[in-house]
Amino acid sequence: MPNRIHVAFVAGLLAAAAFGIAQTTTQLKEVPITPTSPASGKLMYNAYCATCHGLDGKGNGPAAVALKQEPTDLTTLSRENGGKFPESHIYSVLKFGVETPAHGNQEMPVWGPALHSLGSGSTMASSVEQQRIANLTRYLRTLQQ
Ligand code: HEC
Repeated sequence: MPNRIHVAFVAGLLAAAAFGIAQTTTQLKEVPITPTSPASGKLMYNAYCATCHGLDGKGNGPAAVALKQEPTDLTTLSRENGGKFPESHIYSVLKFGVETPAHGNQEMPVWGPALHSLGSGSTMASSVEQQRIANLTRYLRTLQQ
């Protein structure tokens, strides 16, 4: 379902009664995408991305422990690309998904359809989706070291 996306995490308590220890577990849960302003890359980032990538972009959000694949450190995108921010690559990752997901399965959500769904019913849905992806991309640029 395009308008549901893995962004929330639930922390549960697993009690091992025999030993009297409690272990915290984290599981991902699919929730409907919450509406945000398409004008603010920062607010969208905090609402949709920080659970996995962390507020600072370094990949240590609270849901990261529930993933098999570590969320990419988003502060080194430019450094990893010879000092140049890989703008069109990021735009395409957000619209269509990660090209070659590690471990073959995609834990990084595909954002295009979910962001599009926020404007569903409107004739502007596609241009607002583009605006959202462009502003998210622009925000990631500001996180570069
Ligand atoms: C459910 C956890 C999760 C959420 C939420 C999430 N990501 Fe990711 N992201 C990942 C994981 C895991 C990877 C590493 C994927 C891989 O290498 O297979 C990743 C990779 C990336 C990459 C690098 C992809 C590449 O191929 O270079 C970018 C850029 C990115 N995420 C941006 C975002 C943005 C922007 C958002 C919010 C709109 C977001 N992510 C939300 C888990 C998440």
